[in-house]
Amino acid sequence: MTTDLLEEIHALEADGRRRVEAAAGLDDVRAVETAVLGRKSPLAKVSAAMGGLAAADRRQVGQAMQEARGRLATLLEQRRAAFEAEDRERRIREERLDLTEIMVHPGAASVADRGHLNLVTQTRDELEDTFIAMGFEVAEGPEAETDWYNFEALNMPPAHPARGMWDTLYLKLGEPETILLRTHTSPVQIHLMEAQKPPIYAVVPGRCYRRDTPDARHLPVFHQVEGLVVDHGITFGDLAGTIEAFTTAFFGPDIHSRLRPSYFPFTEPSAEYEVTCPICAGAGCRTCSGSGWIELGGCGMVDPNVFGAVGIDPEEYTGFAFGFGIDRLAQVRQGIEDMRILLDNDLRFLTQF
Ligand code: DAH
Repeated sequence: MTTDLLEEIHALEADGRRRVEAAAGLDDVRAVETAVLGRKSPLAKVSAAMGGLAAADRRQVGQAMQEARGRLATLLEQRRAAFEAEDRERRIREERLDLTEIMVHPGAASVADRGHLNLVTQTRDELEDTFIAMGFEVAEGPEAETDWYNFEALNMPPAHPARGMWDTLYLKLGEPETILLRTHTSPVQIHLMEAQKPPIYAVVPGRCYRRDTPDARHLPVFHQVEGLVVDHGITFGDLAGTIEAFTTAFFGPDIHSRLRPSYFPFTEPSAEYEVTCPICAGAGCRTCSGSGWIELGGCGMVDPNVFGAVGIDPEEYTGFAFGFGIDRLAQVRQGIEDMRILLDNDLRFLTQF
């Protein structure tokens, strides 16, 4: 009887082994486990039959049973681990995102014609090149700002009515209304003056945010380029000359600039920067409301209070600043009616540039 049982255990283990080895996947492993080691398995039946054995025999058969089950369980575990590893590798293979894959737009002549930078990015790059050629360095600043940089250091204390000129988006961080998405690139003036001593000749391109409803001339997320010059003896003439030099370098010799008196809290005096309407060449059209000029941004002489905020002596240094929209610039130069198309991802538009 004991020998019979031992032989049966032996045969069942061999059979179980074959079945485990034949398993083709995780589901099979699970099914084989139940069939070979489960409560209704042939091995379990042998265990039940052990009840009728004498104690010594029962111990012998019991030990053989335990060993057989242990070896089968180890084998099952190995198969399971192997299938799981295979599975993981297959998933990684299948889910891999090939970022080097080349997307070719419909109508492309060849793979080489695989797309290009958006018009706004092209315009920003060109602006940077133009200013670098004029001796400016290019800087960057954060898009999330504190109230101090976006407003207060720019001569707009809390509750200053000029804050109403910007439709501000505040972030839910810290005290209410202390951290915001910058409404303009002007806060980088402050970062620049904090980080270095004059002379400063810098331009700062970057993304800005306002709670504006998108329309033909406004986007809630847009781009500006800020300019800042601080040195000994800088005058309003330097500002006007720089703006004119930039305008003809960027738009061509037929487009000129003019400054009209305006107000900004961080400059004194302040001006609006306008260029000849490129659509009608200054004759007057619908786009420029018949004036022949198109407004691009603001500028002025750095207000002594701004110098005060960063510890620069306004008796020793003077400076000018300017800021205008890159999207607006691209729109004006290309004669684009509605700015929203810049973000539409419409290839019929994008492939024109
Ligand atoms: N930050 C102003 C705006 O977004 C534009 C501006 C005006 C920038 C005058 C300047 C400046 O640097 O001097 O409307």
